[in-house]
Amino acid sequence: MHRMIIEGGQPLNGDVRVSGAKNAALPLFAAGLLGDGPLLLDNVPDLKDIHTMAAVLRHMGALAEVTDGRAEIDPRPVNNPTAPYEMVKTMRASALVLGPLVARHGRARVSLPGGCAIGERPINLHLKALEAMGAQISLEQGYVTAVAPKGGLKGADFFFDTPTVTGTENIMMAATLARGRTVLRNAAMEPEVTDTARALTTMGADIRGAGTETVTIEGRGSLRGGRHRIMADRIETGTFMVAAAITGGRVRIIDGPQGCLGALEKKLEEAGARIEANDQFVLVTGPDRILSADARTRPYPGFPTDMQAQFMALMTVGSGLSVIQETIFENRFMHVGELKRMGADVRLDGNTAIISGVEHLSGAPVMATDLRASASLILAGLAARGQTEISRVYHLDRGYERIEEKLLGLGARVRRIRE
Ligand code: EPZ
Repeated sequence: MHRMIIEGGQPLNGDVRVSGAKNAALPLFAAGLLGDGPLLLDNVPDLKDIHTMAAVLRHMGALAEVTDGRAEIDPRPVNNPTAPYEMVKTMRASALVLGPLVARHGRARVSLPGGCAIGERPINLHLKALEAMGAQISLEQGYVTAVAPKGGLKGADFFFDTPTVTGTENIMMAATLARGRTVLRNAAMEPEVTDTARALTTMGADIRGAGTETVTIEGRGSLRGGRHRIMADRIETGTFMVAAAITGGRVRIIDGPQGCLGALEKKLEEAGARIEANDQFVLVTGPDRILSADARTRPYPGFPTDMQAQFMALMTVGSGLSVIQETIFENRFMHVGELKRMGADVRLDGNTAIISGVEHLSGAPVMATDLRASASLILAGLAARGQTEISRVYHLDRGYERIEEKLLGLGARVRRIRE
């Protein structure tokens, strides 16, 4: 198990370049299953989840190589359209292979992802949409088997009961090879959905409206291989923006994604940070005094749930009272107990956290519980007085590439202990 040691109190200053987006790379790897040729991806982040997804594709017989920030996925040798439990349980986004496999091979057998630390996270809407496209869905021994009708999936007009990011991506991918038109309503509008649609378009897919609540896909008989540069990671970008704010530093995030962090920027300005953004970088200058602000997580373009834990860390040293509501997942406050060990004053009432800002946090041994909670503890450690030791940092490695190196480059006093 690896631990991270942070000596707090050091303002972060300088430039940092963010990596490719994990939550775009994962659907894009699955999109590689659709074409009659290889999909070449650039700006691939070197993350555990990405290597797990590549292993899932290789398990099916696909070629899936990831080297030096590039990936090549060739689905032509696929001969076993299944994703086994031992792989899916470590990375629930493997469910993204379901739509492409059913569309391309007529059948798929994928382990149900099961819950995770932050919530039950069902995929019932993914399955309901595939049924609407004519797939026969059966669930047994923890696996979902989906079989397309003779002649393949057919286009459908489907309304998502709730916007689901991977649900929208899964069905958008399936629809590219279905017979006829598919219209997805109340679709997720996250930038990663749009990035996936861009790659599919290079493969010959006909998709309109990605990034809006209604996506229309005209099915094609086949898709070709393609080439795509993965968008920059907006959550990694947001995490470094909060790092500048909470340490009172001045950080320029280079090559970040364009124009998709509006909700977070507004909240950070409300908290007193100064933000300058152009098409090369976003510059965040932390305030001398952090002002408390409220936040409520919402589907994009609302405040991102993946930034809730990080923003809470900032609010623990705010000037007054902050109310943060988590409306997307039912159990995404596991960072609260750990922040309180560092002196934070947080009270929970269902999906609402009431944070009363304190003068300063104090370093302490804490434990990471999930990916974004780990980021929250790093941010708290950077701001706290004294030393913070974070255990179970493997959670962090799922979503942040070379995080110590990037933090060291900004002047943070951080090191990793490999046991
Ligand atoms: C994606 O997860 C992201 N993961 C998550 O990022 C992110 O937190 C989430 O979207 C919300 O933005 C990837 O893109 C790989 P959802 P996803 O389906 O697609 C309910 C991170 O930290 N729902 O949009 O699994 C669900 O329970 C991770 O990088 C159903 O009820 O999330 C949740 O309450 C964590 N039935 C809500 O919808 C379904 O069939 C939104 O979930 C699907 C979802």
